Amino acid sequence: MLRIEGEELIDDISYSFENGATCTACETILVVLKRLVKANESLFLSTITQICKLAGEDPDACEGAVAREGPIIAYALRQIETGSKTSKLFCITFMGVCDYPAVTPYEVSFPKKASRRPRPVPSKEPPIRFVHFSDIHVDRLYAPGTSTNCTTYLCCRADSISKSPGGSDVPAGPYGDHHCDVPLSLEMSMYRAIEDMGHSFSIFTGDIIDHAIWNTTQAQSTININLAYAEMSSLGHIYGTIGNHEADPVNSFPSTAVGSAPQWVYDTLSSLWSRWIGDEAATAEKNFGAYSAKHPGTNLRIISLNTNLYYIQNYWLYQDPMERDPSGQLSWLVRELQAAEDAADRVYIIGHMPMGLRDAFHDYSNYFDQVVNRYEATIAAMFFGHTHTDELELSYSSSTNRHFSTASAVSYIAPALTPNAGHPSFRVYTIDPATFAVLDSVTYIANMSAPAFQTTGPVWEKYYSAREVYGPLVTPPLEAGDELSPAFWHNVTEAFERDEGAFKGYWGRKRREWEVEECAGGEGECREREVCQMRAARAEDNCVVPKLGFHYERLLEAIPGLVEGREREEDVCGGSMGKRILGALMGRKDLVEVLVGRMMEIEN
Ligand SMILES: *[C@@H]1O[C@H](CO)[C@@H](O)[C@H](O)[C@H]1NC(C)=O
Repeated sequence: MLRIEGEELIDDISYSFENGATCTACETILVVLKRLVKANESLFLSTITQICKLAGEDPDACEGAVAREGPIIAYALRQIETGSKTSKLFCITFMGVCDYPAVTPYEVSFPKKASRRPRPVPSKEPPIRFVHFSDIHVDRLYAPGTSTNCTTYLCCRADSISKSPGGSDVPAGPYGDHHCDVPLSLEMSMYRAIEDMGHSFSIFTGDIIDHAIWNTTQAQSTININLAYAEMSSLGHIYGTIGNHEADPVNSFPSTAVGSAPQWVYDTLSSLWSRWIGDEAATAEKNFGAYSAKHPGTNLRIISLNTNLYYIQNYWLYQDPMERDPSGQLSWLVRELQAAEDAADRVYIIGHMPMGLRDAFHDYSNYFDQVVNRYEATIAAMFFGHTHTDELELSYSSSTNRHFSTASAVSYIAPALTPNAGHPSFRVYTIDPATFAVLDSVTYIANMSAPAFQTTGPVWEKYYSAREVYGPLVTPPLEAGDELSPAFWHNVTEAFERDEGAFKGYWGRKRREWEVEECAGGEGECREREVCQMRAARAEDNCVVPKLGFHYERLLEAIPGLVEGREREEDVCGGSMGKRILGALMGRKDLVEVLVGRMMEIEN
């Protein structure tokens, strides 16, 4: 076997960098990582812990995160073949380099041909309402008076270390802070506000656990999941779904084929959900965290998916080749949708991660999109969270002709309670009581900038109604009782293309007008990219190019000119430390030298 020596490897990686071949550099780093894992896994773990600390991360977070995520990354590294499609996906996720590989074609099979049934016409009977809230990330160690601007991984805790000791730090208020997770006071104030809404049921699209991802335990997460559902129990009927933070370690959802499914979290959730979805639904599919249940006394079926099985930061998925249908969830979904179609039920699909994001594997999103399009007449709407921002994604029956006539499904992405990407929010949908078509989506916020927020407490107010704000943008105008249909929303995206002011309104609402960012690359380009994302419930269509992680500045310093025009990626969803650690290897020659040095030590 030809053994490439250490110096040569370092030269190779540097040469690739200097020539802008970042994907090649990543693939070479991957070779080194694989050799290290193969030679001695514990040495691999101690090496990435060292790299994490050298990269300037919080040392405690490095130790804890590597202990949790490291063995899964090692597992993935063993599965991945150098130069394969999966290795490119690994480089995209961890390092933010390489181009997206093409989707592996796969035709999902269906038991029956598509029905010719059109979307049902709204009944125009008196509407009902339901509530949607998401991403609560309750921090039970939140402590008022502690630092909101800290050097530790999570602020607003007793052990958070202020960036300006004794200086001008803003202490955490009693009701929460934009730089922290959610205190119980803020969580409970939202439930009080929801109680007053007069709603029929709620959907909660996941993420209960705080962002202290380096010291989660199954025992504590089980307690926190139980506590959260007890705290929201005053809301009546709740349809929940499983967030990426519910697992321990975070994002860790091995498929049934990989073996060690996180049964404890599936069992914890299904026992909490059973009071609303029934024992049968709660036990039937609890081996992968999904369920299908009918809302009592109606023909509305809620299908809750575990979309973490399609999440790029679920490192268990990095196989070579990757599984077609992790845990068989898509085949199960097809069976449930077929049963719903046969029974003339209407369906809401709910999940944590929206399927059109850069966070979704393109292949899984493509296969899911085939299912959505096959059952478009049955699916009334889809509801997600995860991004913490207020967004929307559209599915189309034709990928080459995105038009109001081919728009087939709407994914509503609700903004979060967690205030790190805007004011704390929840949403109320007005729906047709017979067809369950969405007639309006009204977002509520508690304005944290209001002077009384930290004294008399959050005041929850109507922020905007989608019908009121976006309805006037389209022709023909919406008639009373008309659905906010996929075609309607497509026409809204066309209005955004025509009318910069209308688009800017959407852009500001995405973050509830809090620290609204400039659109990078000029308004036109930003608008194009956003509209592209809105028309991309199928992830391969979303116009996202891989972006370097938060070590981007360091990379820029190291190799000026290399990454011009590329922005750094924001990751409010909390991701994982693994990505931050391996991402640091891009462009830091000193860190690459540490890595290669360790490998040489063991191989010589
Ligand atoms: C693997 O590395 C660890 C240190 O991280 C060391 O203690 C152990 O002896 C090594 N094992 C082998 C087989 O070399």
